[in-house]
This record gives sequence, structure tokens and C-alpha cells, in this order.
Amino acid sequence: MHLNLSADEVLSTTRAVRKRLDLERPVEREVIEECLRLAIQAPSGSNRQGWHFVMVGDAERKAKLAAMYLETYEAFYASGRSATFPEGDPRAQRRPKVLDSARYLADNLHRVPWMLIPCQEGRVDSTPSASQAGWWGSIIPAVWSFMLAARERGLGTAWTTMHLRSEREAAEVLGIPYDNVTQVGLIPVAYTIGTDFKPATRLPLDEVCHWDEW
Ligand SMILES: Cc1cc2nc3c(=O)[nH]c(=O)nc-3n(C[C@H](O)[C@H](O)[C@H](O)COP(=O)(O)O)c2cc1C
Repeated sequence: MHLNLSADEVLSTTRAVRKRLDLERPVEREVIEECLRLAIQAPSGSNRQGWHFVMVGDAERKAKLAAMYLETYEAFYASGRSATFPEGDPRAQRRPKVLDSARYLADNLHRVPWMLIPCQEGRVDSTPSASQAGWWGSIIPAVWSFMLAARERGLGTAWTTMHLRSEREAAEVLGIPYDNVTQVGLIPVAYTIGTDFKPATRLPLDEVCHWDEW
């Protein structure tokens, strides 16, 4: 299924989908493969293509990853230690909704049809930011392309990072060679309930765009 959105519509309406993930409807492997084929068109430093995509559909493994996610969620997010913003800031207005939706995902993550665990060869745990920039910049565009391709096909996704506090345990569950391969997130993948998503309210462009100097 294609929604036939314009490129600008895909770019402006690919939201973090949590409550509107259809947890009952299976997602065909062929659709996932289509999205991954587009994802690997993304750029990577020196054309290295060190990316790997672990698609998890097995119920037992999903339950283990969801439990790791929930543990971090309870310790970090639910206790109010996530980002806070000044009153009147659009991000502050949005925050209760984000928290409510994040809670729902944490409680229901095990039910998603697929979890995508994007990985990349190498570890950058203690390397300088200048080298990290090239490393992260070689995997994030591919994952975002996957999420955009998914949106065009009626699928919802959300970038999440909470299970990474248990990355070593997750690596064991999935057979990922932890010493040589880094997991960069966990992306739930499901059809969305309804396909209409709106552009988000963001900070005004003139606050974040700098011409010639800061
Ligand atoms: C690096 C990164 C990490 C994130 N981690 C989580 C997460 O662990 N759990 C979650 O529910 N959402 C997570 N999000 C989603 C953000 O909360 C979401 O993108 C933000 O609220 C803006 O909403 P929108 O993407 O729908 O515009 C993450 C997003 C990014 C880019």
C-alpha cells in the first residue's frame, strides 16, 4: 500500500507514532524489505555502509527487549527526569502529551509487530566527538530514510533509545556481537491507525537558523 504523499508531505508528517500503532495488524516482511532497500540508499562516511538492520518479530525476544525498555523508562522518564522547558515554550505545551504517549509505548512495546534494531559496525564509546560525528552520521540518515519510507506505506515508527542502557543484554538476546557492533536505537514498526498526520509545531526557524554567523 502506498499513500502517495508528496516528498514534502512525507518529510513534514512523519511523527513519532505511539498510541496510533496498530498492534493487531501484522506487517508483511516484503513491505519492511522495501523500506530497508530505500534506507540503504542513504549516504555513509567513505561509503563504508557499516549498517545492519535487525528486525525482531519473535514474541519472546520482543518481550525481553520491551522489559529492558520499560525498566529504563521507569527509572528515567516516569520519574520526571526527562527534558523540561520554560513555561510558554511550545515544547512545554507539548510535553504532557509526549509523556502520556511515551508511557503508552513503554507499556505496550512488546505488542508491536516488529522492532527494528539499527546497528553499525564499530564502537565509539570513548572516541572524540569529531570521529563520532562521522560514525553516527553514517547510520542516522539510513534509519530516518527507513522511517520516511515506512510513513509513505502507511506504517508508523518512533525513534527510541531507552533499551540501550541494557545494550549488552539486548545483544545477547539477539546474537549481536557487542564488542564489534553498536546498536543505535529501537524503532517500533506497525501500521498506523488512520493515515492522517499533521506537521508539528516547532521552535520558530529564525531562532535556530544562523546566516553567516551565530
Ligand atoms: C534520538 C531520539 C531519541 C528518542 N527516544 C525516545 C524514546 O526512548 N521513547 C519515545 O517514546 N520517544 C523517543 N523519541 C521521540 C521523540 O520524543 C519525538 O521525536 C519528539 O517528541 C517529537 O515528536 P515528533 O517526532 O512526533 O515530531 C526519540 C527521538 C529521538 C530523535
